[in-house]
Amino acid sequence: MDFNLSEEQLMIQQAARDFAQNELLPEVIERDRDQKFPAEQVKKMGEMGLLGMMVDPKYGGAGMDSVSYVLAMEEIAKIDASAAVVMSVNNSLVCAGLEKFASEEQKVKYLTPLASGQVIGAFALSEPEAGSDATSQKTTAEDKGDYYLLNGIKNWITNGGTATYYIVIAQTDPEKKHKGINAFIVERGWEGFEIGTKEDKLGIRGSDTHSLIFNNVKVPKENRIGEDGFGFNFAMAVLNGGRIGIASQALGIASGAYELALKYAKTRKAFKTEIINHQAIAFKLADMATQITAARMLCFKAACEKDAGKDISESGAMAKLYASQVAMDTTIEAVQIHGGYGYVKEYHVERLMRDAKITQIYEGTSEIQKIVISRSIAK
Ligand code: CAA
Repeated sequence: MDFNLSEEQLMIQQAARDFAQNELLPEVIERDRDQKFPAEQVKKMGEMGLLGMMVDPKYGGAGMDSVSYVLAMEEIAKIDASAAVVMSVNNSLVCAGLEKFASEEQKVKYLTPLASGQVIGAFALSEPEAGSDATSQKTTAEDKGDYYLLNGIKNWITNGGTATYYIVIAQTDPEKKHKGINAFIVERGWEGFEIGTKEDKLGIRGSDTHSLIFNNVKVPKENRIGEDGFGFNFAMAVLNGGRIGIASQALGIASGAYELALKYAKTRKAFKTEIINHQAIAFKLADMATQITAARMLCFKAACEKDAGKDISESGAMAKLYASQVAMDTTIEAVQIHGGYGYVKEYHVERLMRDAKITQIYEGTSEIQKIVISRSIAK
């Protein structure tokens, strides 16, 4: 196993780091305070190829490998976890799903603008009464011949208010349970499609989370993804990859908090010495560094397996389960190391602590990851 990064991977990591420092850091506190979507920054991320990183250049992507994706996600999330989730959803849930499963016409029409960052996408699976239990979809898509009639409500949709194209999962035949679920590409602005309430969130406040309301929306037949009844398997396959994105976001939140805590501990003095010289602080930093390294290795493992075409349900779930726990633990300790300064906005660590929590909830809660892992090892 080679632990060295290639020159290209190092370049991508550096480019993402520079972008985060120069473009994301300056107003990150204000965006968090005001729940402001980083629109200009996301546009630039698209121009840099960060929104369709692994997509074939013939469909507007950057044609990079998944390890580069982990590296870039970590750098973006270190500074702005909200921008990171926009990037994760567009890359992993939207572009990756379309590249793997959409028709050629769908790829030309939808994937190309999404991967090149001209527009962004959203993935609508969760509902008021169907979160972890994703087969219990209440949104229906009735087959009307040339089109499906879409009705229902989706909840907590990342990029919900800013996306142009939405992948919407809906029930077409309740009798068939998960085999009666389909995935559709829905365009913003179609009659009967309304963007609902914006959520006022604990963390990732710069990301744009909305409910979506579908009231007799006509979805052309050619906008169904894959064969009839493929929607649930599509969603599961896409989420496996998405979990690498969120694991990398969690990794970035953790390493961002760690770097701030380390810097602070080297400069802040108490009892006549820098606080890093007190074992109580030094041991916290040692734990953080070890756990972050382990989380990074799990992300790399899942990424390498993805690029090798292997089943990543287990490795993706392990990476997300572990990295999200590390994000939570590290950010709590980073606040503790900063003492009173950690509790105020200016020092960034309180925001990272709030941002960390969602990584244990979305794209499959930690409990769901344990279901996926335990089923896999029991096979
Ligand atoms: N990978 C691939 N296929 C999978 C899979 C996985 N990880 N898990 C299940 N499947 C397949 C099964 O093989 C089965 O297919 P076949 O019948 O063809 O064999 C089918 O899915 C049904 O499987 P189960 O009977 O195991 O289904 P279940 O009802 O017991 O639930 C579950 C499985 C793993 C709990 C699933 O419901 C799940 O992952 N739930 C969590 C959903 C989730 O992650 N939601 C996040 C919302 S998206 C989001 O947060 C986006 C955002 O904006 C940030």
